[in-house]
This record gives sequence, C-alpha cells and structure tokens, in this order.
Amino acid sequence: MESPIRRGRSEEANVTDGRNEADEGFSEVRRAWEENADFWDARFGEGNAFQRVLIGPATERLLGLKPGETVLDVACGNGAFARKMAELGATVVACDFCERFLELAQEKSAARPSAVTYLRIDATKPAELRTLGSRRFDAAVSTMALMDMEAIEPLFSCLPELLKPSGRFVFSVLHPSFANDACRLVLEEEKENDRFTMARAVKVRRYRRPFTSRGEGMIGQPAPQYYFHRPLSLLLGAGFRAGLVLDALEEPGFDEGSVGARPLSWEHFPEIPPVLVARMRLR
Ligand SMILES: C[S@@+](CC[C@H](N)C(=O)[O-])C[C@H]1O[C@@H](n2cnc3c(N)ncnc32)[C@H](O)[C@@H]1O
Repeated sequence: MESPIRRGRSEEANVTDGRNEADEGFSEVRRAWEENADFWDARFGEGNAFQRVLIGPATERLLGLKPGETVLDVACGNGAFARKMAELGATVVACDFCERFLELAQEKSAARPSAVTYLRIDATKPAELRTLGSRRFDAAVSTMALMDMEAIEPLFSCLPELLKPSGRFVFSVLHPSFANDACRLVLEEEKENDRFTMARAVKVRRYRRPFTSRGEGMIGQPAPQYYFHRPLSLLLGAGFRAGLVLDALEEPGFDEGSVGARPLSWEHFPEIPPVLVARMRLR
C-alpha cells in the first residue's frame, strides 16, 4: 500500500497567519491545486489508505452525525467525504477554492442522488465565508486542509457566525509534531546483545515557529503544493481566540503489522501518528 503523504523540498519562507491582502487574485496556492486536481482525483478516488484507515473513521466518530443535520465541508477537494456524509443522512454544503476540484465533485455527485451543494469559496476570505449564511450549520468539517491554507484565522473567526449554538467543527491535519515538512522518517541500525536490528524514528528539525514550504502530497503530482506549518499552539489557538473549545482529539496511526510500499512508508510507524483529528465546539 503506497503511503500517500510524501513531503518535499522545504523553503525558508516564514509565514504569519494574517491574510496577505495583496494576494486577492489567483494565488500561487490555488494555482497548484488547479494543476493537481485531476491527478489527485484519479489517485484519491473515494478515499485513499490514509482517508479510509486513519482520517475517515476518526472524523466520523468525532462528528457523530445525526440524519437530517446540516454540515459545511470546508476545502472539500473532490467531495468524497461530503458525499459520504450525505450518505449518512446529512445535508451538506461543500466548498473549495479550486474550480477544477468542484467540477470533478459535481460530476461524481451527478451520478448519485445525494444532498450535496458545491460552492466556490476561498476559506481565507471572510466575505466569501459569510455568504454561506448565519447560524445555519449543525457542524463544520475540514479534512486534511488547514495545513494547506495560507491563513486559518479567517475561517475560525467566521465559525461562530456560521454554526448553530453549540455547533462543532471537526478537522484533520498532518500531525504538526511528526509530519511537518521539516520532519524526516529515518531507519536506524541498532546493535543489542550482538544482534543487529532496525528501528524507525522521526527526526524533527523544526516545530515551534510557523513556516511555509512546497512539496508533493501525492507522489508524481504535476505541481508542488504549499504547506503552512503551524505548531499546535497556533493551530488550536486560532480556535480558542474565536471562542471555541477543544473537546475531543484523536491521533490515529496504522496498526502494528501494516504493510507499506516503501521501508519508510507511514504504515511501518504504528507508534507515530501521521495525522491529528480534533473536535472544537462553540461554548
Ligand atoms: C489535501 S486536499 C484535501 C481535500 C479534501 N478535504 C479531502 O480530504 O480529500 C486540500 C484541499 O484544500 C483546498 N484549499 C486550500 N486552500 C484553500 C482555501 N483557501 N480555500 C478553500 N479551499 C482551499 C484545496 O483546493 C484542496 O482541495
């Protein structure tokens, strides 16, 4: 099984978490997704190993959807999880800033009658988020996308307007501590009682300060995508500052004995969680 997450070339550009107001047009961040959408859709389909084994089950557990609930899917990609939620009985509004992903999502949804409405929304722009309506959603979800967003404060600060009272927001990200772009997976030889064994580890070079990098989310994708590393204090802090509280957290990893395509595939690191899934809610 091929690990879908591969990190690439790291760049030394530090980021703040504010919106870059000069960048109101077709940003480089979005351009990369427009170029990658067909490739991602073909490889990801209705969910790759990371989604099926790690992200999907944890997200569904933390969401605890009830039929008839209204859910906002932020940065929905090809809409696979939005359709899954619709199958579970939710009414879903799914948005992304990538035109091509939305076209692909629409095509897939046309083939099955499910309650998903797709909209083009840039989640770093409060004015666009506010067009989604007021106090409309029981829950919001964002799978594996916050680390791809140039800024997350705008989304968190709009959530109290978008969600119903006590509404919840469930998100997954690459684990900031173990799977940021400055982490390296290593295989070491160890000698114990005259026997040589191999041990795997994660080497963490940077963590405390945010940084931007570009790399491959899927091996062979046409364009490098941008990553915006934020330590946990900044990631969760964006929610805390918006008045949300953290009330559930999962750090899923692959089971012992899982087999990956390469010696350093994440499947071979059962003790290290490559993703983090969190639930925050309005007080
Ligand atoms: C790794 S993909 C995940 C897609 C989907 N949620 C999934 O789990 O398959 C990241 C997504 O974030 C979207 N994205 C990145 N920045 C965004 C922004 N500012 N506004 C809306 N979508 C954004 C990309 O277009 C892409 O669809």
